[in-house]
Amino acid sequence: MARYRIAWLPGDGVGRDVMEAARIVLDGIGLDADYLPGDIGWECWCHEGDPLPARTIELLSNTDCAMFGAITSKPAAIANQELNPSLAGKGLSYRSPIVRLRQLLDLYVCLRPCKAYAGNPLNYRDDLDLVIFRENTEDLYSGVEFAEIPEAMRSLPGMDRVAADAAVSLKINTPRACERIVHAAFEFARKHDRKRVTCVHKANVVRVTDGLFLETARRAAGAYPEIRFDDANIDAMCMWLVKNPQNYDVLVAPNLYGDIVSDLSAQLVGGLGFGCSGNISDHYAVFEPSHGSAPKYAGQYKVNPLATILAARMMLDWLGETDKAAALKSAVAEVIRRGQVRTYDMGGDAGTLEMAQAIAARL
Ligand code: IPM
Ligand code: MG
Repeated sequence: MARYRIAWLPGDGVGRDVMEAARIVLDGIGLDADYLPGDIGWECWCHEGDPLPARTIELLSNTDCAMFGAITSKPAAIANQELNPSLAGKGLSYRSPIVRLRQLLDLYVCLRPCKAYAGNPLNYRDDLDLVIFRENTEDLYSGVEFAEIPEAMRSLPGMDRVAADAAVSLKINTPRACERIVHAAFEFARKHDRKRVTCVHKANVVRVTDGLFLETARRAAGAYPEIRFDDANIDAMCMWLVKNPQNYDVLVAPNLYGDIVSDLSAQLVGGLGFGCSGNISDHYAVFEPSHGSAPKYAGQYKVNPLATILAARMMLDWLGETDKAAALKSAVAEVIRRGQVRTYDMGGDAGTLEMAQAIAARL
């Protein structure tokens, strides 16, 4: 029996292309694992009315961790049009399966390293090495939303100022979730000798929920005197990240702001082709590229697989396979530094699998 059982969820669109590339690299590094395929994504929605079928959740509960490619999401109206007619009228509604997975499995840390690899022509600067800790289970992603204000809500204080036809999405932040993400960020900083943790928020306006997040971070900072702590409003943070990104080290943020700074930071180090992500709990983890399914490129083996390959590196690290993780990181760094194999986003003409093979060849 193999040492690890890894759920393998390519999803749809280019998810399949990049996951095939990731397998070339994992096989090259000789990870002793069984890869168990699972269904997730747009086709499951269209044919079964559920983009995250129960059998896939079952598969996850029988594995050590999962690798996930990408899935297509479309607005509600289009999602309902594409649903198999036999499922219409059953009140089904599309909800992003990755967001559901994060909540269902309580994968409360969304860890997103953004490192500039030397020789990447897409780097904004070459000296960037940021790590984002994004809260992954609540905030504006809680999914408590009302297209019309429910009657019971109308009598709440302040609601007299709200138009009768308003739509409402609740931003929900709990002390527990704030504490555990902040704690994870500081512990990471301590373990990896990082010098600075910056809390991203909008507590000057969103006083209650972001105030809780910021206060929680401030309190936690007291236990880590060796780490410099500061904070910034999300809008200013976006500006500072463009102006002086080299000054930042570890960022910690509630879910939505974390989502925003993730894409901004990924672009600083080469764009979505380089953005990798780990959704992590104390017992399980799902690793993925941060990019979407880019349906127009599906099956063309054109997109950059590095985000997924770097996600596989995160997985190796999480599994405790630190030597293999380090070897993979060096191989990636070497291929980027030499610059002979580049995908189209990097100005080259190498395909998805060629990039993976080049990395595998250096392992
Ligand atoms: C991400 C993505 C997702 C998110 C989408 C696909 C639901 O943007 O992982 O950052 O918003 O979290
Ligand atoms: Mg995002």
